[in-house]
Amino acid sequence: MMAVKNAMTNEFLHSAYGGESMAHMRYLIWADVADKEGFPNVGRLFRAVAYAEQVHASNHFRVIGGETADSSVTAGGVFGNNKTADNLQGAINGELHEVDQMYPVYLNAAELQGESDAKRSFHFALEAEKMHADLFQKALNSVKEGKDIELDSIYVCPVCGHTILNEAPDNCPVCGCKKEKYKKF
Ligand SMILES: [Fe+2]
Ligand SMILES: [Fe+2]
Repeated sequence: MMAVKNAMTNEFLHSAYGGESMAHMRYLIWADVADKEGFPNVGRLFRAVAYAEQVHASNHFRVIGGETADSSVTAGGVFGNNKTADNLQGAINGELHEVDQMYPVYLNAAELQGESDAKRSFHFALEAEKMHADLFQKALNSVKEGKDIELDSIYVCPVCGHTILNEAPDNCPVCGCKKEKYKKF
């Protein structure tokens, strides 16, 4: 794997690494809150998506080359820690920020600068995040009615973080990874 050559792409990788790392931890914390509030399936959804964010952080980290990242940038969101409904809204805000603004800009910068490894890492994250906001919105609709979300299994691709309900596809539509490799929650 080639090192990143351009300062701007490098900066964006560090920022994305920081944002994904914090999202990972925030979702694990909010999973515990959801469990305590009697929404175990929402808790499981938070844990599955936390794993997807770990995959993204790992990909960005590899492209950076393992340097210590400056984690001063966060991907939006409300930092509540009491109410699962607030936490889900914060998660939705963060995911939409990544899908609508952050990753499209980062992806374009990496493309413009001919940074193919960074481009791949941003592309994987962008595609996976598209599903997260939807899943969290469904969970929020349930929780607002005082009910846990109805949920069978959640599968997460270990290569790109692709997140899907009920059953893993034969091959990941984003990265081509095989069904057996998907992690089940
Ligand atoms: Fe996400
Ligand atoms: Fe994948």
